[in-house]
Amino acid sequence: MTCTAIINRNNMNIHTQIPLRNFTTMRLGGPARFMVDVHSVEELRDVHKNARQQNLRIFVIGGGSNLIAPDEGFDGLIIHMRIPGIHIIDDQPGHTIIKAGAGESWDDLVSKSVDMRLSGIEAMSAIPGTVGAAPVQNIGAYGQDMSDTLVSLEAFDTTTGSIVTLSNEACGFSYRHSIFRGDEKGRYIITSITVKLYKTLPTAPFYDSLQAYFDAKNISVFTHQTVRDAVIAIRHDKLPDPQIIANSGSFFKNAIIDDWRLPELKAKYPTIKVFTMTENRIKIPTGWLIEAAGLKGSLLHGIRIYEKNALVLVNESATTYDDLAKARDEIITKIHDMFQIVIEQEPLEVR
Ligand code: EPU
Repeated sequence: MTCTAIINRNNMNIHTQIPLRNFTTMRLGGPARFMVDVHSVEELRDVHKNARQQNLRIFVIGGGSNLIAPDEGFDGLIIHMRIPGIHIIDDQPGHTIIKAGAGESWDDLVSKSVDMRLSGIEAMSAIPGTVGAAPVQNIGAYGQDMSDTLVSLEAFDTTTGSIVTLSNEACGFSYRHSIFRGDEKGRYIITSITVKLYKTLPTAPFYDSLQAYFDAKNISVFTHQTVRDAVIAIRHDKLPDPQIIANSGSFFKNAIIDDWRLPELKAKYPTIKVFTMTENRIKIPTGWLIEAAGLKGSLLHGIRIYEKNALVLVNESATTYDDLAKARDEIITKIHDMFQIVIEQEPLEVR
């Protein structure tokens, strides 16, 4: 038993052979050799040092809502991030700076910011998961994303054993991407984030589906709470609750392609939906592609392409990662054959 040193020194509970299916909202995945809850930077430092001495690989999980675990599990130590704390660190006439521990629930942070009548993250209401996971895939919804409000974050640098502060720019954010899932994958363990939120009211124009909701309900006075309530209602309608139905939210990223491809695609598929990204790049909603391919609502290897939103895969009866991988690959192949577009999985894998 290699983890005894960690248990004895820190009086922390190291669990062994923990099924990862219980810690990921897709409810798949084999056992983790070891798992430990970490509640402070000091605990993290000690756990990391001991794991390193014992040559154990580590992987950090938050809420498990954007993670897929393989059937073989993880032959190392899973660190379950639980660092708490939501604090105002600066309050100015026009804005407030808030620091939040990586283990806090993302939606608790959003809810508190709405109670404080602060603007910046209210449209990202009800996204499952933790604060520490938010920058990793640069979470976003209804016109806001993490990179709009993040000032900086603190992270444990596993290569030096020290805590570093990374500015927004240093995080290398782009659509659903950052250095934490890209070039520096595995290097940093995020311990807290600092966001700048504004003392302004949300104003139109809103993201299409949010505006459509307001129009349908005849809402024309907008507060942080009306935006939060609307987003929660829209999400409730279009996204399955991971507490009830096993899923990881959007299973694919939207497709970002060169704009020169558009005329040909439009000629073939006149109803194709397109959003401009940058000068030469366009975003095609993968939900539209999957629906247009006739896959919405299908059941593949126990995985259902959600009837209300084709971007979401629901684990209806799959028991293995292998089932999910087969379903995923069949969808990717079909989209490629039809549109010559390669779509990418959005959730990270525990590896
Ligand atoms: N669409 C379809 N068919 C579908 C689903 C979508 O045609 O089955 C079309 C819609 O009509 C719409 C377009 O695709 O024109 C975009 O759809 P939507 O506004 O629902 O957003 P999305 O691009 O599918 C993204 C995020 C969501 C986020 C929503 C709302 C990604 C991968 N997903 O989805 O995030 O809630 O925007 O802002 O970017 C998540 O990451 O887990 C997530 C749920």
